[in-house]
Amino acid sequence: MQGDLCKVDDIQKVFKLYRFEAVIHFAGLKAVGESVSKPLRYYSNNLVSTINLMEVMSKNNCKNLVFSSSATVYGQPESVPCTEDYPLHVTNPYGRTKLINEDIMRDVHHADPEWKIVLLRYFNPVGSHPSGEIGEDPMDYPNNLMPFVQQVAVGRKEVLTVFGQDYPTRDGTGIRDYIHVMDLASGHTKALDKLFTTPDIGCAVYNLGTGKGTTVLEMVAAFVKASGKEIPLKYAGRRPGDCREVYAATEKAEKELGWRAKFGIADMCRDQWNWAKKNPYGYRGHQELEVHAQKFIKSEPLSNRHWAL
Ligand code: UD1
Repeated sequence: MQGDLCKVDDIQKVFKLYRFEAVIHFAGLKAVGESVSKPLRYYSNNLVSTINLMEVMSKNNCKNLVFSSSATVYGQPESVPCTEDYPLHVTNPYGRTKLINEDIMRDVHHADPEWKIVLLRYFNPVGSHPSGEIGEDPMDYPNNLMPFVQQVAVGRKEVLTVFGQDYPTRDGTGIRDYIHVMDLASGHTKALDKLFTTPDIGCAVYNLGTGKGTTVLEMVAAFVKASGKEIPLKYAGRRPGDCREVYAATEKAEKELGWRAKFGIADMCRDQWNWAKKNPYGYRGHQELEVHAQKFIKSEPLSNRHWAL
């Protein structure tokens, strides 16, 4: 079934058909740059959907929820690794929608302690399903590192721009905690187990990361090794809003969820390349994508075009 969480009726229809024990809420817009130019679109879509969903869940007495939050709520952390009790600070509308959603959930649980909620703060999800059948397919310009690297490898983009080579890190490029999407998926099943077995869980929060930091150049080298393709690089200044180094503290998830990431960056790149070579144009054909790209370029305001071209 397909529906729109911004339409209460769509959600009600599904709840009439089935009785749910719990819901995993993944839906939302996630492009940081777009959220800066279209904040209302982000606030409306990402917040209305959550409010509608929780209202319908409550009416149907389904009060177990797992929510996809993001490490973006840590903003520019003063030190690493980030533990779940770090101060929260966001720097763009996308991040603010994640934080407001977390706050909504904390408030709902406070008002009605029957709610049991797990907030999962994802670090940098990459990789694909090992079958090569399911992978990330950005609708527009890929802003995140690995979708861009993938498009260079299949010849859709000529060169990867590395943002910043003067960070105080081992090779001058930014450090992130990349996590395989299969590890993320297993984190959700562990979160559900936790909800069902912990009556007093309240509104709990867990990082989903590996606890290991990888630089941009290390990630590119791992992809080159996995794919056998060259990834030409050019260097540009730091991307506004980027931080030097972010990676997760994983102890809480290990101890309380019994979960830890199994896969390393070689596995992530192997699986992502498997998806990329089988689906160089994602879920759509080359021609369909060309038509979409032309429409996107025409409809975008000028301020966004430096991302789009
Ligand atoms: C970004 C968002 C974050 C969001 C996450 C979703 C920003 C500032 N942050 O995180 O809020 O939750 O995506 O996955 O946009 N890089 C390049 N060249 C590129 C793209 C990226 O060098 O073409 C570098 C970046 O400077 C950074 C690293 O690669 O050091 C990772 O970037 P990215 O994949 O965009 O993730 P984040 O910035 O961590």
